[in-house]
Amino acid sequence: MTELGVILLAAGLGKRMKSSLPKVLHRLGGKPLLQYPLSAAQQFEPKKITVVVGHGAERVRQACSDRDVAWVVQERQLGTGHAVLCTREIYRQFAGDLMILSGDVPFITKQTLEALLSHHRKEKAALTVLTACMDRPAGYGRILRDGRGAIEGIVEERDASEAQKEIKEINAGIYAVSAPFLFPALERISNENDQGEYYLPDIVDIALQDGARVCAVQVENPREIAGINTREELALMEKSLQEKINRGWMEAGVTLKDPQTTYIDEEVVIGKDTFIGPNTHLLGRTVVGERCRIDGSAYLTDTQLSDEVHLRFSVVLSNCRVEDGAIIGPFAHLRPGTSLGRQVHIGNFVETKEAAIGEGTKANHLTYLGDVTIGRETNIGAGTITCNYDGFKKYRTAIGDRVQVGSDSTLVAPLSLGDDVYVATATTVRRDVPAGALVYNERQERVKEGWTEQKRKKMKKL
Ligand code: UD1
Ligand code: CA
Repeated sequence: MTELGVILLAAGLGKRMKSSLPKVLHRLGGKPLLQYPLSAAQQFEPKKITVVVGHGAERVRQACSDRDVAWVVQERQLGTGHAVLCTREIYRQFAGDLMILSGDVPFITKQTLEALLSHHRKEKAALTVLTACMDRPAGYGRILRDGRGAIEGIVEERDASEAQKEIKEINAGIYAVSAPFLFPALERISNENDQGEYYLPDIVDIALQDGARVCAVQVENPREIAGINTREELALMEKSLQEKINRGWMEAGVTLKDPQTTYIDEEVVIGKDTFIGPNTHLLGRTVVGERCRIDGSAYLTDTQLSDEVHLRFSVVLSNCRVEDGAIIGPFAHLRPGTSLGRQVHIGNFVETKEAAIGEGTKANHLTYLGDVTIGRETNIGAGTITCNYDGFKKYRTAIGDRVQVGSDSTLVAPLSLGDDVYVATATTVRRDVPAGALVYNERQERVKEGWTEQKRKKMKKL
């Protein structure tokens, strides 16, 4: 079998994005654009995948550091033809076929690439171009065909005549090409065009001059090869990806009250009969169980909810784990390292961080619980604060089972409260408290009768 290699072009800045971030790192469905064609390429298990990077090369590499690919740096972006030529050394000994993909064409599928490659091989072509017919072809290179319908060349829009601009068949920027043809051909292309760049599509002319076979394969669904060049295109693509993902979850038995304002990343998983209200964001590797209820305005990142969890209106959770039946919010902020046991209640204006909270425990109002471990069936009163930071270091608080922490208590870490401890209201606890004990601060309460009237009289005199 002929060997296969893949070249992915990702060196361009993406001028039309007007961004200092390399275009292929702009996010779609929560992932950098480049991850999409990379995944498509990897499904072929090619001998080698080479990614050509340039603008922000180091950042691009970092964003894909989990991938087994070879990186080639194109120091100056002299055009797509030049970009491919930069991989010449890597493929010097390579006599097989190469697929060339574009880093900014995210929705290309394995099936389409398979069709491209098998046509290329069946026809024994030197070069096979993927094309599509578009109602609005603006921005793309146009496919020129001769009287008999054979491909004759590709002209970039900015170099095209008015008549050529009318052509609806466009170059997808994706090719199958035989390596021994490719590299010598690239050395022969010129940069005499409107942009002064070396255009990869110009190898069509070289092949035809040499009498080599050039084929074209048309994709059925032009949306698949839509490239992203502007932020508007990115937003439209995000919208259509979102619609597809949301449709998928509704088909799988999830209710989305308002799919228009529900944002679910690609890798998220949601269980059956879960209800999701408006303006919900489920991001990263978030997992939501069955029969959960998310009232609305929820922002979840890399968070796992088990079954029957109820997120009331307006909550933010990042890197949290929540067990069955817990109720959270409204207006709660659960920060990384929070894990809630079954039936935990976290109420309004509660913030947690690195907090492991046991089954049935409640913290219903106005509380900060940071760097803390809490047992089961404990009640944290309103206004309780774990003082975990002395300006230099963070310290942990441990609270046992069935503890009653009275309202307005401050727990100064490092600290441990045993099981069944009772913290009186407005206590500042600085020392460990053994199981079953009451802790309170000695403080005298005084009442001065008639004080208000005296005060008012005094104020009027002044
Ligand atoms: C390219 C094609 C066009 C096609 C369109 C499909 C050329 C000249 N034109 O145009 O016919 O219709 O794709 O989407 O190829 N890149 C580099 N180094 C460079 C220049 C570009 O790596 O020096 C990379 C970019 O990062 C991008 C890809 O090549 O991933 C395509 O470049 P882009 O500038 O977006 O080409 P288009 O104008 O879209
Ligand atoms: Ca492009």
